[in-house]
Amino acid sequence: MLSNTILDKLNHQVNLEACSAHLYLQMSAWLISQELDSAAAFFRQHAEEEKQHMMKLFDYINETGALALIGDVATPAPEWKSHIELLEAAYNHELAITKSINDLVDTALREKDYSTFQFLQWYVAEQHEEEHLFGSMLHKARIINTVDGRALFRFDEEVRKSVLHHEHLQQKPMFLQMGPAPKHHEGHDDPHARHQHSCSGH
Ligand SMILES: [Fe+2]
Repeated sequence: MLSNTILDKLNHQVNLEACSAHLYLQMSAWLISQELDSAAAFFRQHAEEEKQHMMKLFDYINETGALALIGDVATPAPEWKSHIELLEAAYNHELAITKSINDLVDTALREKDYSTFQFLQWYVAEQHEEEHLFGSMLHKARIINTVDGRALFRFDEEVRKSVLHHEHLQQKPMFLQMGPAPKHHEGHDDPHARHQHSCSGH
């Protein structure tokens, strides 16, 4: 059974997750308006994930026999002046969500509500991932936004390609690196194919 304090905080979190979904969907629309289709697709997908975060809390509250409340969901205004400003807003939003989750965990521990404490561990791990994801995206956007940064990014991309190419060569059997494998028909060996196979390189 949930205490009133925990229930209020859990319902507040339901509302925050719904707000996150609205925010990212709105960001997705703004990014489309700027022709940034891949970033828009990412935020649209992330809005769906936030809905799942909300539903997970919603189900947990209802399972305890309490009443889940969604409340009025704030709809953010699309007033970002650049994609970097948008990413800063997304990153700061995730920091605020982490703070709220931490506060919930803290309250659950103080009230010895170990069931809720256990349930919230998933959100603690999720917030670690979210902060890393959005922080990294923001950092990359800032790097690419400068001339020197673009050169560095290009260099890093070339390193990535080289490593991938190297790994690809190492994993491929030697005969595949030399070209397509000779066709082998049982009982009907093509002498020419056999010649190519046994004398490759001559
Ligand atoms: Fe979330």
